[in-house]
Amino acid sequence: MIIVKTEKQIEAMRESGKILRDTLLKVEEFIKPGLTTKEIDKFAHRYIVSRGAKPSCLGYMGYPAATCISVNEVVVHGIPDDRVIQDGDIVSVDLCVLYKGMHTDAARTFCVGNVSPEKRKLVEVTKESFFEGIKHIKAGSRVGDIGSAVQKYAESFGYGVVRDLQGHGVGCSIHEDPGIPNYGRAGTGEFLKEGMTIAVEPMITLGTYEVYVSEDGWTVSTDDGQPAAHYENTMVVTKDGVEILTL
Ligand code: MF3
Ligand code: CO
Repeated sequence: MIIVKTEKQIEAMRESGKILRDTLLKVEEFIKPGLTTKEIDKFAHRYIVSRGAKPSCLGYMGYPAATCISVNEVVVHGIPDDRVIQDGDIVSVDLCVLYKGMHTDAARTFCVGNVSPEKRKLVEVTKESFFEGIKHIKAGSRVGDIGSAVQKYAESFGYGVVRDLQGHGVGCSIHEDPGIPNYGRAGTGEFLKEGMTIAVEPMITLGTYEVYVSEDGWTVSTDDGQPAAHYENTMVVTKDGVEILTL
């Protein structure tokens, strides 16, 4: 069931989204080689709480941390642990913020230190594919319009588009309808309406788009061990476009 939000709910999501955006900016300043992913998680968690909000991934379906931190070949949902960030890593930090009853969801992939041009390009194109995808969103457009644009753009660079995970509605909870795949055909799928709030999140790989889930039940990695990047924002659909709430 798709939940169209009221103006009051959207206003709360604007505030939630700002806290999330600021958290990611703080993490970007903080992140450096030698830190463990657990230390980065702790830093983000503290900052969110200092803003009077909650990190809503914590406890979501039993998830054990405030953030998902996914290094190199880990695509998404990496559980913060004692893994040490190395010079040249690409590190995706993904988190959800709950404020005034409303959730927002966003992710960035950070290039730490001396990242190879090949990985840097992957991170860049992943972000660009997000903006290609949302170009087509407005009231009356369809979910397939987004995925088709993301896929065309990312594949034009020879990259893989992960199919096993997708974007989603967000707001009253972390994951709501509709699902928003990063591949597909324009002119197909659910219609988007003014006041819908969605998270668009391309997950793009250097090699195969095939992924597997670890025994921990969360960590998603590429089958071939090649790096992956992730970029995500929460937005509200408007009459003639989108308003991004986490930028
Ligand atoms: N952005 C992630 C997603 O949409 C957030 C998940 S919360 C977690 O899957 F608890 F699953 F980590
Ligand atoms: Co998400």
